[in-house]
Amino acid sequence: MAVYTEEKNQNGLDRSTAPSPKTLFKTIEEIFIRFSSALKTAQIYEPNNITFIRQINPLFNLIQNTLGSEGRAVFQFRENTLFFNTMRIKFDFLSYHNFKFLSDEFIKREIGELGFESGLDEDELTKFIVLLADAEVKKEKPFEFFLEEIKRNQLSHIFLERIHPFEIATIKEAQKFKKAAKKVFTKSITHLKEVFERESQQKRLQLKTTRRLIQSIVNNVSQHEAFMIGLTNVEKHDEYTAHHSVNVAIMSICVGRRLGLEKKELVDLGISAFFHDIGKLEIPMEILQKEEKLDNDEREIMEKHTYQGAGKLACLKELSYIPVKALYVALEHHLWANLSGYPKYWKKDYINLYSKIVKIIDFFDAVTTDRPYRKHTLTRDEALSIMLEKSGTEFDPILLKVFANMIGVYPIGTLVALNSGELGIVMETNPEVAFMLRPSVKLITNRKSKKIDGEIADLTEIDPKTKEYKRTIIKSLDPNKYNIRVSDYFLAQAE
Ligand SMILES: [Fe+2]
Ligand SMILES: [Fe+2]
Repeated sequence: MAVYTEEKNQNGLDRSTAPSPKTLFKTIEEIFIRFSSALKTAQIYEPNNITFIRQINPLFNLIQNTLGSEGRAVFQFRENTLFFNTMRIKFDFLSYHNFKFLSDEFIKREIGELGFESGLDEDELTKFIVLLADAEVKKEKPFEFFLEEIKRNQLSHIFLERIHPFEIATIKEAQKFKKAAKKVFTKSITHLKEVFERESQQKRLQLKTTRRLIQSIVNNVSQHEAFMIGLTNVEKHDEYTAHHSVNVAIMSICVGRRLGLEKKELVDLGISAFFHDIGKLEIPMEILQKEEKLDNDEREIMEKHTYQGAGKLACLKELSYIPVKALYVALEHHLWANLSGYPKYWKKDYINLYSKIVKIIDFFDAVTTDRPYRKHTLTRDEALSIMLEKSGTEFDPILLKVFANMIGVYPIGTLVALNSGELGIVMETNPEVAFMLRPSVKLITNRKSKKIDGEIADLTEIDPKTKEYKRTIIKSLDPNKYNIRVSDYFLAQAE
């Protein structure tokens, strides 16, 4: 059931004659649920359909009663929250989807307030809901256009207020953000390739640019973590090292942010992660890309990339742009939490925090990326479950927990089969622990396995008829087997 908290009493009524808070909460809860389902039904059925007509009468009566007792019946959308007659509506398990549905409907028409006035009749309410469900949503000035429609249909007992400009600015910023984030991502990859080329030609490195790019990544992560994690699904086989390094930087910053690190620390962590494998420049290609298992001599050479990396970073002329911790990360990112792993001459009894974070992300990104020498690439959830088995031995248990919570049971970018027969890609995990198994999923095939550019389905959505979840994940799938490039779906959002 939905829970309501009273923000402030603005109705001006004497509390002794007003309905008890409990009754009021119950009524508001019903109005909210009936209003959402009437709107949903209107989007599916014609106005004369009996299923739709049946929704109107009880909703109308509830609004009438509220107008009588409260003197007002007003929905408000602000600060990403819905209010009814100043009561903040909080959501649980069953009503969460209704909340998301209704706020999305408000946002797309830029409605900040919707109120009903005395004199409203059933016919007017029906017309309004049909209009809200069907009227075109204009790209430019959607609110003004909708308001005109209300006037044209002479719905004089319904009033609307435009959403606060601040709220719109936030929403528009999010749209602009995705474009900018993709740009930073691509730039970082190009930059890293350049850095590596210059390094190998012993030219002066542009470390000022590195710091600036990582600063942008930090800003982007704090605005839209899910989208940034989604970008780490982008794979280019010929540019593996560059993509791997940028991915490790992005996800390390995400973990650092969840640990509460400050902005400067996040930038240092990002730079350290960005250069963790710089020592690999010294490793011959035939060893780096060998398809068979490395022999002992080869493995010894490979393992040297840790201290070779630290050595390289220590020698850099522009050391002021590189945090000292980057040297630790290059040196320690293959050490296990129990101090095994390599380099083997390890004598310290602790590992730097940044190294422990990069260790986790490095492993996750490496085993989930398709490489010519890797026989079996893991799906993102397979990788996570293997890592959880190694919690406390290979990986720091607390940091691994933070990471697992961040990417969810079905990590962003996982291809999943749904019980509806559709396939989808996880676009956003659900922040509520109770909904961990119910992320938002972009539908990419229909029930007949035909590829579609489907909606982003919220798996908390409940079928009003059966009162059961509309879609549930059955299992995750390997996108390579289905010839699906997960990254395309994230990049498409930034077009
Ligand atoms: Fe490495
Ligand atoms: Fe690595």
